[in-house]
Amino acid sequence: MKILITGGAGFIGSHVVRRFVNTYPEYQIVNLDKLTYAGNLENLTDIEAKENYTFVKGDIVDQSFIEDLFEKEKFDCVVHLAAESHVDRSISNPLEFVMTNVVGTVNLLNAFKTHRTNPDGFFYHVSTDEVYGELGDSGKFKETTPYDPNSPYSASKASSDHFVRAYHVTYGLPVKLSNCSNNYGSHHFPEKLIPLFINNIQNNKPLPVYGKGENVRDWLFVEDHASAIDTIFHKGTNGETYNIGGNNEWTNIALVKLLCKLMDSKLGRPKGTAEELISYVKDRAGHDFRYAIDSTKLMTNIGWRPSLQFEEGLSKTIDWYLKNEEWLNHVTSGAYMDYYKEQYEER
Ligand code: NAD
Ligand code: DAU
Repeated sequence: MKILITGGAGFIGSHVVRRFVNTYPEYQIVNLDKLTYAGNLENLTDIEAKENYTFVKGDIVDQSFIEDLFEKEKFDCVVHLAAESHVDRSISNPLEFVMTNVVGTVNLLNAFKTHRTNPDGFFYHVSTDEVYGELGDSGKFKETTPYDPNSPYSASKASSDHFVRAYHVTYGLPVKLSNCSNNYGSHHFPEKLIPLFINNIQNNKPLPVYGKGENVRDWLFVEDHASAIDTIFHKGTNGETYNIGGNNEWTNIALVKLLCKLMDSKLGRPKGTAEELISYVKDRAGHDFRYAIDSTKLMTNIGWRPSLQFEEGLSKTIDWYLKNEEWLNHVTSGAYMDYYKEQYEER
């Protein structure tokens, strides 16, 4: 079976590629990635020489390139992760999110519909819980929760989900979808809360907490997301959506304080050192208050379970960053500094 994984050089994509390449030597895995600021082949050095792995550099927005690739390769299945993924960047540049997340997804759907030859093959779209909008103090997102996206990022992901479903209904294209909560773990680009704050604590830089830090997110270890994708890929039903979450809700400020405590201890600094770096800054525009996921369908129908408790996962994540300073130095050089200035200098 030949599987195209898009966005495989990114954070979650690299974990999915690694899992599929290592677990299923009988599958041919092709990783298609544009290598934007978020894509990094250093995330995949441990598997790049494997016989069942190929990397292709390319842009999913480039229609003729995508058509040619699908015509040549006749993929059996697609696992689509390539996306612009950061909410703050979507607020500054929404059109880039429309191009990659919406137009790019439709290009892939068209090419797969035209060139697929395996009747059992399917298009698996990896999406986010942010499509459901925000929750108040109670309740959880179910697969039946109406879409209500608030940021340009979540609007673009909601649109791409709708296109995937529309291709299933209109053209009978076999599809699967999943909507996952916030991931954390190794190889996470330091623009997102956890890796940004790990990097800033290491460098004694302020920790910019948006608003009052009371917003709530449900955190899942990235390797557990990859295992859920594996489970849905192999056992999920055609046309269905599965919600994936960690049942692990934290206010941002409680999470940041836990991170500070772990970092002080790992860096051998006196207790309370990192917390002094906390700085409350202007809130994110349209900041969703709370996300929480009900994963009952995934757990009950096809038997997935997360493997790690949060504190253990966070500790492993910090250890990875402390051991991989070179990775961090590479991704924080050059354009990263311009981004950081633009986002935080006047906040
Ligand atoms: P990421 O930003 O780390 O990686 C995205 C990857 O896509 C990068 O390798 C990038 O080079 C590639 N890419 C971007 N534009 C491309 C294009 N036009 N053509 C080809 N490749 C392109 O993102 P991530 O956090 O790993 O997220 C992966 C997927 O999972 C996304 O679809 C995202 O919406 C979804 N998701 C993320 C989270 C999370 O917490 N990070 C949670 C739920 C769902
Ligand atoms: O819920 C799934 C989504 O989780 C994914 O679809 C997105 O791709 C992913 O980026 C993530 O979105 P969030 O906006 O929730 O993640 P982020 O790490 O940017 O922010 C987490 C919380 O921390 C959020 O409430 C905003 C806050 N925050 C973030 C940053 C970067 C801060 O307080 N300060 C910061 O500097």
